[in-house]
Amino acid sequence: MSDAKVHEENRGDESRHDDKPARKAANKPVIECKGITRSFWRAKERVDVLSDLDLEIEEGSFDALMGPSGSGKTTLLNLIAGLDRPTAGRLLVAGTEVSAMGDAALAKWRSQTIGFVFQHFNLIPVLTALENVELPLLLTKVPASERKKRAQIALRVVGLEDRLHHRPQQLSGGQEQRVGIARAIVHDPKIIVADEPTGELDRKSADDVLNLLDKLNREFDKTILMVTHDPAAAERARVVHKLDKGRLT
Ligand SMILES: Nc1ncnc2c1ncn2[C@@H]1O[C@H](COP(=O)(O)OP(=O)(O)O)[C@@H](O)[C@H]1O
Ligand SMILES: [Mg+2]
Repeated sequence: MSDAKVHEENRGDESRHDDKPARKAANKPVIECKGITRSFWRAKERVDVLSDLDLEIEEGSFDALMGPSGSGKTTLLNLIAGLDRPTAGRLLVAGTEVSAMGDAALAKWRSQTIGFVFQHFNLIPVLTALENVELPLLLTKVPASERKKRAQIALRVVGLEDRLHHRPQQLSGGQEQRVGIARAIVHDPKIIVADEPTGELDRKSADDVLNLLDKLNREFDKTILMVTHDPAAAERARVVHKLDKGRLT
């Protein structure tokens, strides 16, 4: 069997890119979805956006989630990030049963555990890069001087130490997304979820963002789950999960 064939064989529904350098995945799941269903009601009709879904993400892994528009990718990320709750099933993230937590506890847990990167960056236009990155720390007890210091460090990690006082409209799309990533890591979360983080970017900026996510995974031990339509982005992932009509295929 040729190497190309082996590679092809490895690319199943949960394709393991064994030809990539080993990551620090510890084989211990940090995200566990057990029989997750999320339903919405439309005109008295129940729609199961996610159906009885089982998914495990290993600690320290960089996984991708792909699937057609409307297949439930964002719904699943929101559940994992504690922004929403499943209709049925259990969800364990970083040792916590998220599906059983109350609103206040969930907000606190989220502010310590999860960094969220959005497709449209979601920066506040009137705030500078530094102020945008500081925002998640306002939900914590970190004092103001320390907030500023940590935001500066996060912006240094993403290579924007010379753009601290720029507002979003003074930045390129790629730079805006890097501010978005700095904001996602400023509280040193264990897990980063990214919803089509390169969807708005040209190839070069997209590759910069992917390199950065790669670095956060390899050097900073972040577990990353990234929704993407971009085959080049999925290539970076250790495992590619495929979702179709609310089920993993
Ligand atoms: N809050 C909601 N209320 C009703 N339907 C929703 C809600 N959120 C998502 N949906 C529906 O769930 C389906 C999956 O949405 P989504 O998770 O955003 O898909 P994807 O991110 O894969 O494009 C869509 O049909 C969407 O309309
Ligand atoms: Mg989506």
